[in-house]
Formats: sequence, structure tokens, C-alpha cells
Amino acid sequence: MTSSMTLDQFDILALRREFPILSQPMNGKTLAFLDSAASSQKPRRVIDCLEDYYRRYNANVHRGVYRLSEEATFAFERARGKVARFINARSQREVVFVRNTTEAINLVARSWGDVNLREGDRILLSVMEHHSNLVPWQMLAQRTGAKLEFLSLDGEGRLVLDHLDAQLQGVRLVALTQQSNVLGTINPVAEIARRAHAAGALILVDGAQSVPHMPVDVQALDIDFLAFSGHKMCAPTGIGVLWGRRALLEQMPPFLGGGSMIKVVSLHESSYADVPARFEAGTPAIAEAIALGEAVDFLQEVGMARIYAHERELLGYAIDRLAGVEGLTIYGPQTTEMRGGALSFTLEDVHPHDVAAALDSEGIAVRAGHHCTQPLHAHLNVPATTRASFYLYNTAEEVDRLVAALDKARNLFG
Ligand code: ALA
Repeated sequence: MTSSMTLDQFDILALRREFPILSQPMNGKTLAFLDSAASSQKPRRVIDCLEDYYRRYNANVHRGVYRLSEEATFAFERARGKVARFINARSQREVVFVRNTTEAINLVARSWGDVNLREGDRILLSVMEHHSNLVPWQMLAQRTGAKLEFLSLDGEGRLVLDHLDAQLQGVRLVALTQQSNVLGTINPVAEIARRAHAAGALILVDGAQSVPHMPVDVQALDIDFLAFSGHKMCAPTGIGVLWGRRALLEQMPPFLGGGSMIKVVSLHESSYADVPARFEAGTPAIAEAIALGEAVDFLQEVGMARIYAHERELLGYAIDRLAGVEGLTIYGPQTTEMRGGALSFTLEDVHPHDVAAALDSEGIAVRAGHHCTQPLHAHLNVPATTRASFYLYNTAEEVDRLVAALDKARNLFG
């Protein structure tokens, strides 16, 4: 692979060969996988890494004093270090392994939220949040009497920040996605973090759709918590990350109780381990965490800036080409500025599920529905959309196939 700032045709073809699933036929066509916002495909080296663990050194971590367990523990903790460096954490102790973004956000809502929020405190969210960055805060508000407030959106699907400083009065926590899973909008997180801190609030960033697709640096953003999932960034399901500032994590009580998260246990009480172990009760997803480390190596070798540039190029091409499909409406910004590669649309009177089924018959995988954002769809005044989403392995030719299949679906249903 060359080291230029973009991925050329040669790079992409080489990259695609790393993903075994991409060469399999789908409904008699070559698979065009345009649903990486839901879950990404896995390169061979990540699949091999999982198998290698089970074949060579399967044992529990942080427990045995025998060689296999030590090897598993070393690989597990090395993966934590890789993740820490990937997001520029100050220390790997700031990286908590969880199941996914949802669990990471629930952990903060339960552990930080229950202790710190009182009746009348405010939590500031936005209308574009995924249910995973909405429902845990609703539950917290019900438990504590805190109130939820929402940043609204302009006609392009960008946050309206004109009154942000006033809206931040009395806010204890801002919880915001860095990149919308529907609109593709990339939010100015660093600016919002600065203003949140000036108002005395903390900020949690949902990085599920940003960490896999662009360089994310927690120190440069100056945020307090970051949540993301492995399976959207070439790693297995069942492993995700909560990053938090160490001083904050250290003040937070455990989320789940059990083995591994304790110092001393007696019949009636226990003392708890230091972070991150305090938040990792029970046997963790060992193979998955190690494979997440492998995925991070892979993404860094390709280069996050190049991945971002490649997706922007594809996105620009897709926005141009989709403009030529009669009756098609794209939701979210119509430019590539501060926008990622999740492209949601409707096709006149054709139901989004019919659109997705028609695309599937052409070997093209997309998602249809509300994409776990019912309030956003209510705001857009559509019950559902069809979403194509891009990743490092997608090509302009796949965009051409998407456009041709949409034209065909329109003629069929129209
Ligand atoms: N959050 C994932 C999506 O947007 C599942 O599809």
C-alpha cells in the first residue's frame, strides 16, 4: 500500500482482498456492503487473531499464574494499550472494556449519574441522538428527577448552537454524538466541550460512528467521556470501550459487582479495585478485546486520515450521483463538509423496506427503518429512511451499482 493521503484504486483492491466476505456472491451478484454504520466487515487478520487465541492461549485473564493465563493477560492488556494510543488517552487505565457503546453510556449514566445528579439538574442532548444516547438518560432522569434538554437541528441537519451558552445554564452533562448515524452530520465537539466546561458541565461523546471513521483524539477534543464499539471498526461484536478522564473514573462507584472488580470481600461488604478493573466485573470478552487491538493496528496501518479522506471522496461522488435519481431525497447535509459517510434517503412513494429489499436482490446491503433514532425521524417527519453507509473498503463502482439499482426500483414500484 502506498503512503499517499488518499486510497487509490490499487489500494482499495488490495484492501478488499483482506476482507474474505467481500468476495462472496450475494443473490447472484458480488456483495456490495453498504451497511458499515450498522456493523463493519472484518479483515482476515482480525478473524485469524480470534482463532489464534482459542487455538494457542485460551485461558482466563488476571487470575492464573500459569503460562497460558499470563499470555492471555499480556495480550488483553496490550490491546488496552493499543486502544489508549489510538484515541490518545493519557493512560491505558482510562480505557474500560465494555460490550458496546450502549453499555459504556449506561455505565456512566448509572455510576456517574446516580451519584452526581439531583432533582432539577439538567442534561443536554440533541434531537439527532441514537436511542443508546437517549434512553439511558431518560432512565437516569426518572431515577433522579433531572431534566433533559435538547439541541435542535437546522434544515440541513446541523446542530443549532446560537443559544448554546444560555442552554448550558444549569447543565451538569452534555451527551452528544460526534457523528450522526442517520444524517452523517459531524458535530463540532471540541467547541461544544469548551463551552460546556466554561458552564461547569461535563461532556460525554458517543463515538460509535466517528471513532471507526476519522482520527479521534480525546485530549485535543478536551472531552470527559468517549464511548465506542469494536464491531463498527473491523473488530468482533461483544467488545466496546468507555474512555473517561482518570480523575472522574476514580471517583465513580462500580456499575456491576462480582469477580475481578474487588480488592477485599467479606460476607457483608467489599472494597473495590482501582480503575479500570473496578468497572470490569466477571470474565471479560478476552478474545474480542485482543482482536480489537488487532483491528486498531490494521486501521492505523491504513491510516485514519486516509480512511476519512476516502469516505469523503465516496460521499461526494454519491451525493452527486444520487441527485440524478428522480424522486430521491437525501437527509442531512448535502455537502461533504463536516459530514461522514452515512447517507439516508427516501425514494418518493416507495417504502424504505421495499427499497432495501430491491437493493438486496442486486447484492447491495443497506439498512432501512428508523435506525434507532425515532425522535430524529419524527423531527424529519418521515417514519423511516433507507441508509447507505461507507467504509474503507467501498468503491465508486458500488455507488454506481446503488444508483442503477435505485433507478430500477423506482421504475418497478413507481
Ligand atoms: N447503531 C447502528 C446503526 O445505526 C446499529 O445501524
